[in-house]
Amino acid sequence: MSDLKSEATDHVLNELRVFTPSQEVVDNANITAYMHSKGYTDFHEFHKWSVENRFEFWDDMANELHWFKKWENTFEWTQKPFFRWFTEGKFNIVYNCLDRHMGTPVENKVAYYWEGDNGDTRTITYKDLYQQVNRFAAGLQKLGVKKGDRVGIYLPAVPEQAVALLAVARLGAVHSVVFAGFAAHALRDRCVDAEAKIIITADGNYRGGKLVDLKKTADEAAAEVPTLEHVVVYQRLGTEVPMKEGRDIWWHDLVADIPEDVVVPCEEMDSEDMLYILYTSGSTGKPKGVVHVHGGYAVGVYATMKFTFDIKPEDVFWCTADAGWVTGHSYLLYGPLMTGATSVYFEGIPTYPNPDRFWEVCAKYKVSIFYTAPTAIRSLMRFGEEWPQKHDLSSLRLLGSVGEPINPEAWMWYRDVIGRHELPIMDTWWQTETGAHMITPNVTLPLKPGSATWPFPTIEADVVDKDGSSVGHEKGGFLVIRHPWPSQMRTIFRDAARYETYWNTIADVYFAGDAVHRDNDGYFWIQGRVDDVIKVSGHRLGSMEIESSLVSHPAVAEAAAIGKPDPMKGEHVKVFVILKNGYEASPEMEKELKLHVRSNVGPVAVPDELEFVPSLPKTRSGKIMRRVIRAKELGEPIGDTSTLDN
Ligand code: PRX
Repeated sequence: MSDLKSEATDHVLNELRVFTPSQEVVDNANITAYMHSKGYTDFHEFHKWSVENRFEFWDDMANELHWFKKWENTFEWTQKPFFRWFTEGKFNIVYNCLDRHMGTPVENKVAYYWEGDNGDTRTITYKDLYQQVNRFAAGLQKLGVKKGDRVGIYLPAVPEQAVALLAVARLGAVHSVVFAGFAAHALRDRCVDAEAKIIITADGNYRGGKLVDLKKTADEAAAEVPTLEHVVVYQRLGTEVPMKEGRDIWWHDLVADIPEDVVVPCEEMDSEDMLYILYTSGSTGKPKGVVHVHGGYAVGVYATMKFTFDIKPEDVFWCTADAGWVTGHSYLLYGPLMTGATSVYFEGIPTYPNPDRFWEVCAKYKVSIFYTAPTAIRSLMRFGEEWPQKHDLSSLRLLGSVGEPINPEAWMWYRDVIGRHELPIMDTWWQTETGAHMITPNVTLPLKPGSATWPFPTIEADVVDKDGSSVGHEKGGFLVIRHPWPSQMRTIFRDAARYETYWNTIADVYFAGDAVHRDNDGYFWIQGRVDDVIKVSGHRLGSMEIESSLVSHPAVAEAAAIGKPDPMKGEHVKVFVILKNGYEASPEMEKELKLHVRSNVGPVAVPDELEFVPSLPKTRSGKIMRRVIRAKELGEPIGDTSTLDN
């Protein structure tokens, strides 16, 4: 977490447009019905009530889910900043995603329309998914997977990715998903930290028309995970891959002798039992294993599906995120399934085979709610309006955005070109750590392009200075949340001290690491990270991971990575490299180092710019001052340099 030496930047954006929702939309909104049940018609009045009565709100939400045993207390501090929600409750999120729907009309409803990168399709009902999850859970049991075990998942966006997560959680084991675009060393580090017993992967996958040799990468990582017992391999391509005797097993062989209608009962978990670990980049040190639990996470994700996305039984929901990121966990898998929604599950990329793939898929499945990232919108804008105009997008009723600030220009394009000049955009601010939306519109709120608007019900967000005092409206500051909420991370896996920094960087409040300002109407405008995390195309990269990759090259003595504003990707990576004696700076060396990062960290982290330098600014304690490098690079004031050594 940043040491908050400098104040957050002041805002420069002055966006005055406001778009109000139609009365019909307001009247039919899920949130309106709930507000009425509490005697409110105005969202801001209701929000005030929800902050004062947060436990009543969350009890109401939790009561809409299935509990094996009801909770005793809604909330308890254990020892600040550690807390518990729904204490003594018995619960399993997977029961709420699948079992609960069996014997209801949802049973035969489509859970997923799967669309492969290469145009393959599969349609999977809730019943199909239930059976596949049970069968695979039985398979995992044969391999000895049980409650509390950690299972690494390194799969492309095929339906088996969903099956794998759900089967693991069904058994009460803990999934740790690693995005299939990450390289071997990233997979290895995450599996070593989580002490994974099993890795589930595939022989390979398609991405943008190219074959990806996933098994090879998984093998490289697997060889260095001491706790690993088995690698389960899903056959996506049917290519020849090496299988290590005694360790590796094909998914289809594992389930071959298990009856299709086998039922493996859901493990009855404590509300506070671990559901998953998801690693995310911090500003320093190794990636952080963010821990989420069954009960509170489920309740938070469920509530946001209902009120942010206003999900209704007839909707077709499409969250374009991969399950390798938190957005995929919450809004591709658990959220839609808990609400019995029909979703699109997409393996491909927005620009393959053409830059209308998103719009083609929206039209094909009559998508009504579409949730994507600003980076995708910006990259598709570039290809012009003619691509979306080829398709009938009239089924859309709601748009969403996540992952980074959406600039007003992209927001307007999204609304006008995709949303027929009328559709509302839910610009949802949240984090891996928060589990679910925190600052987000709902369909009843007037919208301003580029603002995430207002906190979700019960969420008490504020803009403060480094001492924790509110700065008031129209001034920049740090975004904080004043009270825990159900879907919040419980700790950082095996690093409670690191968890505590979220609550003690600014005394007694959750500090999100983002800069923000609030306008005179109380709307929140997120400005981005205050620390050294680089956000490339919505993916949160630690400068540290890119730097350590560079330094692992024999020619590199030291390296510093920063993010630079990029019209397409939000930010791109620029690295500064000090070469060891005896090595020459050259275009060949530059190319080699970029390739090195590509194979070590993954394509998303490859620097767009690389500069060879003789030295780097450092603190007296030897820490590279990326803030100073960034300020120099961007021509901004350098700020406090009292700790600067050279
Ligand atoms: O800086 C904020 C930005 O993404 C960070 C969280 O990243 P991650 O944990 O990878 O989760 C991304 C998906 C939830 C935040 O601290 N961010 C996310 N959504 C928005 C955003 N910034 C501005 N507006 C958003 N809607």
